[in-house]
Amino acid sequence: MTDATKKVYVKSYGCQMNVYDAQRMADVLAPEGFVETSDMAAADLVVLNTCHIREKAAEKVYSELGRVRAVKRERAAGGLDTRIVVAGCVAQAEGGEILRRARDVDLVVGPQSYHRLPSLLAEAQVKPGIVDTDFPAEAKFDALPAPTREKTLARGVSAFLTVQEGCDKFCTFCVVPYTRGAEASRPVAAILEEAGRLAAAGIREVTLLGQNVNAWHGAGEAESWTLGRLLHAVADIPGIERIRYTTSHPRDMDGELIAAHRDLPQLMPYLHLPVQSGSDAILDAMNRRHTRDDYRRIVDAVRAARPDIALSSDFIVGFPGETDADFADTMRLIEEVGFCAAFSFKYSPRPGTPASDLAGQVPEPVKAERLSALQALVDRQQKAFNAATVGRTVDVLLEKPGRHPGQLAGKSPYLQAVHIDGDGAAVGDIVPVTITALGSNSLFGPRADVAARKESA
Ligand code: SAH
Ligand code: SF4
Ligand code: F3S
Repeated sequence: MTDATKKVYVKSYGCQMNVYDAQRMADVLAPEGFVETSDMAAADLVVLNTCHIREKAAEKVYSELGRVRAVKRERAAGGLDTRIVVAGCVAQAEGGEILRRARDVDLVVGPQSYHRLPSLLAEAQVKPGIVDTDFPAEAKFDALPAPTREKTLARGVSAFLTVQEGCDKFCTFCVVPYTRGAEASRPVAAILEEAGRLAAAGIREVTLLGQNVNAWHGAGEAESWTLGRLLHAVADIPGIERIRYTTSHPRDMDGELIAAHRDLPQLMPYLHLPVQSGSDAILDAMNRRHTRDDYRRIVDAVRAARPDIALSSDFIVGFPGETDADFADTMRLIEEVGFCAAFSFKYSPRPGTPASDLAGQVPEPVKAERLSALQALVDRQQKAFNAATVGRTVDVLLEKPGRHPGQLAGKSPYLQAVHIDGDGAAVGDIVPVTITALGSNSLFGPRADVAARKESA
């Protein structure tokens, strides 16, 4: 088999940063002759890009490795070789343990070493079972090759761009500071160069990513730059019509960032701002270093800057020591703030994190009951939020073909899924849509511009 026909299958778990990383791993393998495939059985190289955030997420790797092993055996029977790489946060956290539990793995590589994939693969070819979980000094993204324009656009008209990595906040429940390392910001020039390349390929929307994206800051000549300033610079790039950013920490919502929501039309009216709990005692035990009132004040300031902004959040129920009264405080905070969506999780004790050793671990049935109550409340708020869109005309960025022929699917400024009858529009267009109907996961309506043309004809 020639090099040009090698295929790589990359599967990502966890957060959007892993999705971005998976693309960059494919980019670094492309010059090595690897073409991406979505069919594991066709792959000469299988990369599992893993997540360690909760126990369930971490354990998924091992069940998936079982499936990969079966594929490897089948391919071997046909005379084909299959190599297996475990990347991402489980790789970082568990390192060599993965090789002990799954002997077929050729290479375990942490999130900071992707730019070394080609040389690590070459090493593993000679001696399988390599583990690289160092935190090297060089900036990995800036050492990776850029994808072609075609490949960039094939990934969709909305792209992720990681600007910040790692975390110094050490919330007591969280593995991220250990799996991703210390907070690091990419330089302004590298970010603008990448955003410019995305725009030149036809990308309409960029989502700036970071574990604590709003802790991003410039260096050198851009020493005084914060995320708010960076958003302005990205908005100045011709072709970038929409900008989003995620995930933010309440403590880093500074005035410049909040003002950007008022001043920048390209900045979409949506903010994902995890609060985790509405109880001051629990927030303190989580080491979030803000109170529920601080959170309320931040939300008020953001809403004053951009009254129509949609807010989403993350919640953990059943953190050690969480009482019924603490949980009631969380429910009350949700009622008071009003969210358009939220991710919520049962607390999962993670090895090596301070909270996993705390007294007062909450029994599973209590966690389950609280989670379903919280999810029912958020669900009601989400439905009300979507219902309030009916009758309004919103700009929709069309991202892909819809379920039915002629249909297109896209996103409203508030990140709602919207389906329209194409009516001559194409993927990548931003069209005004009058929302007339609600589905369970999507909004529907006709193009307002086409309707206006039909009326005036
Ligand atoms: N940096 C982001 C969140 C990163 S992790 C922030 O600070 O908000 C994504 C979400 O996973 C968290 O917001 C939290 O709600 C959840 N999470 C993290 N660790 C968890 C754990 N041990 N158990 C349950 N949920 C957890
Ligand atoms: Fe984890 Fe807290 Fe850092 Fe978010 S801020 S990544 S929850 S330690
Ligand atoms: Fe998971 Fe790592 Fe992201 S633990 S949530 S993939 S930073």
